[in-house]
Amino acid sequence: MQNWFKAEIGNIKFESPVILASGTAGYGIELEGIVDFTKIGGIVTKGISMRDRQGNPPPRISEFSINGTTIGLLNSIGLQNPGVKHFTEKILPQIMRLPTMVIVNVFGETEKEYAEVIKFIENESDTPPHAYELNLSCPNTEKGGIEFGVNTKSVAKIVRKTRKVTKRPIIVKFSPFSEIIKNLMKTAIDEGADAFTLVNSIPAAVRDQKGFFFKGGLSGPVLKPIALRCIIEAKEKFPDAKIIGCGGIYSEKDAVEFLDAGAILIQIGTANFLDPQIGHRIAEKLINYFKEKSQR
Ligand SMILES: Cc1cc2nc3c(=O)[nH]c(=O)nc-3n(C[C@H](O)[C@H](O)[C@H](O)COP(=O)(O)O)c2cc1C
Repeated sequence: MQNWFKAEIGNIKFESPVILASGTAGYGIELEGIVDFTKIGGIVTKGISMRDRQGNPPPRISEFSINGTTIGLLNSIGLQNPGVKHFTEKILPQIMRLPTMVIVNVFGETEKEYAEVIKFIENESDTPPHAYELNLSCPNTEKGGIEFGVNTKSVAKIVRKTRKVTKRPIIVKFSPFSEIIKNLMKTAIDEGADAFTLVNSIPAAVRDQKGFFFKGGLSGPVLKPIALRCIIEAKEKFPDAKIIGCGGIYSEKDAVEFLDAGAILIQIGTANFLDPQIGHRIAEKLINYFKEKSQR
């Protein structure tokens, strides 16, 4: 495929710097024939848990505007998914036919659920994914709903347990709290994490037209400067860490900012809803950036 770009995480090689972010590109298979997956480095699936989940009742999505300009998207999907059994038997074999890297996004309600999900896939799948991404922005139901990704002990336990059940790369995904990320990256690295996705959506609330407050995760352009700061500070503290940049990337220019800030790969999220082909278009435009970089 392309010879202008190469990035590696663990034993997997990416042929393009652009990955489609979890929850914004379905399972990838819905986009077959629309997205040129040969130009995409990888797809991260929607989050998968042990049991199926119906998700939250509507409203689930609301745009956030200032002076008529949309600057973010608030989502409250509630991690709807069909559960790991259905996913492994019916969906994963189809995704694995796509000509790109497949990263399964995993979450749990308890610390041990993350490893249970991965163990199930490793034991039961004839077509396992290339890597796993741990969504640590989830509430720990055993600890009063505190997010796993803000607590050293939880991060240590989740990464340690998942590391034991797979040899494939483990990518840890954090919420956009720079100080917390800096404090917890070492724990994740020590327990065997191979890379980090920085960042997930930021907890937020907007008031709808009927006056009701709507809580969810805020993504899109408003997240970009916050994500950039998280990446810059993570790289200052851990220069060797492999970081996948994510948050408000809508253009080649945005992508270049994340790469110059120290990310080795980037994920496109909310922008996929505006244009599902935006990922492969940005990838095409990044060719010149990498060619020039290799000549510097
Ligand atoms: C509708 C929607 C669903 C999402 N679902 C997940 C998910 O299941 N797991 C996860 O780790 N992140 C999920 N995310 C977060 C995105 O993967 C991404 O980290 C975030 O939206 C920031 O990137 P963006 O500004 O480019 O969208 C979701 C985002 C949106 C908008």
